[in-house]
Amino acid sequence: MNTKEVSDVNYQAAIITMSDSRCDGSKEDLSAKAIRRIVEEHQWEVAYYAIIDDEYEHIRSQLLKCSDELQIPLILTTGGTGFSQRDNTPEATLSVIEKQVPGISEAMRAKSMEVTPKGMLSRGVSGIRNKSLIVNLPGSPKAVSECLEYVIDPILHGVMVLLGDVKNCGEHHG
Ligand code: MTE
Repeated sequence: MNTKEVSDVNYQAAIITMSDSRCDGSKEDLSAKAIRRIVEEHQWEVAYYAIIDDEYEHIRSQLLKCSDELQIPLILTTGGTGFSQRDNTPEATLSVIEKQVPGISEAMRAKSMEVTPKGMLSRGVSGIRNKSLIVNLPGSPKAVSECLEYVIDPILHGVMVLLGDVKNCGEHHG
């Protein structure tokens, strides 16, 4: 039997918020809260959370910490995917991933554009570094919910395949 059910294992996720304006803790991080709710509804544990500024090197070092040091299999980022001068999340993510997973980001943009044409302005990327999947979500709590709700089931399945816990995709539908 090669398949483990989600309930058999305590799968872990990390949430990293990029926000120059919120990283001093002055305002509640509602985007991270939305991610946490969705992750926990799927019986995954949020094992790490950080809110940082939009500095490229700070983003890189958080991604490397979560993947290489803490070995967290799912790393969800929020913010810094747009057109502002300080939006660096996709570039920092591309610098650490080894394999791109464009379908996740394409699906989120397609879903977002059903809500608003501005959905095309999120430049978020997704990809794999060793045994971690990194997914960039847009910054607003509303956008986070709209995007993550749509892709969470295939993402969790993909991570289980990445970890070797699902050997045959046909055996696990979730
Ligand atoms: N996606 C969804 N689903 N809903 C939204 O309201 N807003 C867009 C886009 N994606 C939006 C969305 C807007 S206005 C921007 S500027 C980009 O996400 C980038 O957001 P970020 O820079 O906060 O990451």
